[in-house]
Amino acid sequence: ELKDQSGVWRFRDLLPILADESNIISLREGNTPLYELPRCAQATGVERLYAKHQGMNPTGSFKDAGMTAALSVAHERGFEWVACASTGNTSAAMAAYAARAGMRSLVLIPEGKIAWGKLSQALDYGALTCQLRTDFDGCVRVLSEVVRRAPVYLLNSVNPYRIEGQKTPALEIAEQLDWQVPDHLIVPGGNLANSSALGKAFLEMKHLGLTDRVPRVSIVQAEGANPLYRSMQANGGRELTAVEAHTRASAIRIGNPASWRKAVKVVEATGGWVEQATEAEIALAKAEIGAEGIGCEPASAVTLVGLKKLLAAGRIDPSESVVLLLTGHTLKDSDYTIQYHRGDLLREEELAPLRPEIEITRRNT
Ligand code: F0G
Repeated sequence: ELKDQSGVWRFRDLLPILADESNIISLREGNTPLYELPRCAQATGVERLYAKHQGMNPTGSFKDAGMTAALSVAHERGFEWVACASTGNTSAAMAAYAARAGMRSLVLIPEGKIAWGKLSQALDYGALTCQLRTDFDGCVRVLSEVVRRAPVYLLNSVNPYRIEGQKTPALEIAEQLDWQVPDHLIVPGGNLANSSALGKAFLEMKHLGLTDRVPRVSIVQAEGANPLYRSMQANGGRELTAVEAHTRASAIRIGNPASWRKAVKVVEATGGWVEQATEAEIALAKAEIGAEGIGCEPASAVTLVGLKKLLAAGRIDPSESVVLLLTGHTLKDSDYTIQYHRGDLLREEELAPLRPEIEITRRNT
């Protein structure tokens, strides 16, 4: 059975969320690779540098780990409809798992602001897909009205079972490193659920005695969608002011993140930091990860930018071990990649100050 091959459900003793295991809806998610990044390691001097590639999940993003958990709960509770607002990956995952369960799904996405790969997945898996003339934050507002009025199960990451499922990559990382947790984990930040989930997992693992320490969890946002970064600078994360978000890393184009308080707790409890990445830095880092023969979507590449900045600031020492959490597959947003190589993504003067650190990542025009 698929659930017996799932990287999420093999940890089900740590996820006590279902009454009856026959309700599990699985697509064989999880068990994703932990890759070495030899070229990035050489360029940065960090010898023990790894990428946990959550893009290698059934629908191509880290969302599958949380979705198998929360969708199974919706199924067990007898819901017919599930719904989410999304920048694309959540909706792709929800649509797929709902289809497997024989349930209907409602997707609200910002028109023109999500990558084609993700939109096409929602359509392919049969979701009722509505593009709204607003941004992600606007879609969240509309959806909160919908779920108040209709018997629809909400699958945005405020759903606690999503967070439980999204803990499992942390367990896999520990396992893949023989239960020697890395010194640092670097995660992209959008709605801030993933960083919260992974931090929670590492803190719980230590509490249970599975590991003897926790990695410092650092979060990286796009400069144009950086409400957490700003909040940390302004008031140490005590208050957060929503921003109007702009970035070509459309997955993390979020101005009013739902889980910011949990993310601040994780950064504080683990001793991590919050960083930001410019559009040019993201594009270059994405090409560098591509040049490793791995690739990722733009939002995932902020992690490599974060590593460079934390090294430059002396917060990470090259002798320490670092895991970058890659959240989405490179094919999710192939438009971005092609525009970058064609020279349409950024102006030359934006890219010029950044010299590729890895020779073969030069733009292929
Ligand atoms: N990376 C990718 C590829 C994402 O799709 C997202 C979020 C993030 C990072 C940020 O994770 O929100 O937990 O901080 N995507 C959501 C979506 C918002 O709707 O697909 P986060």
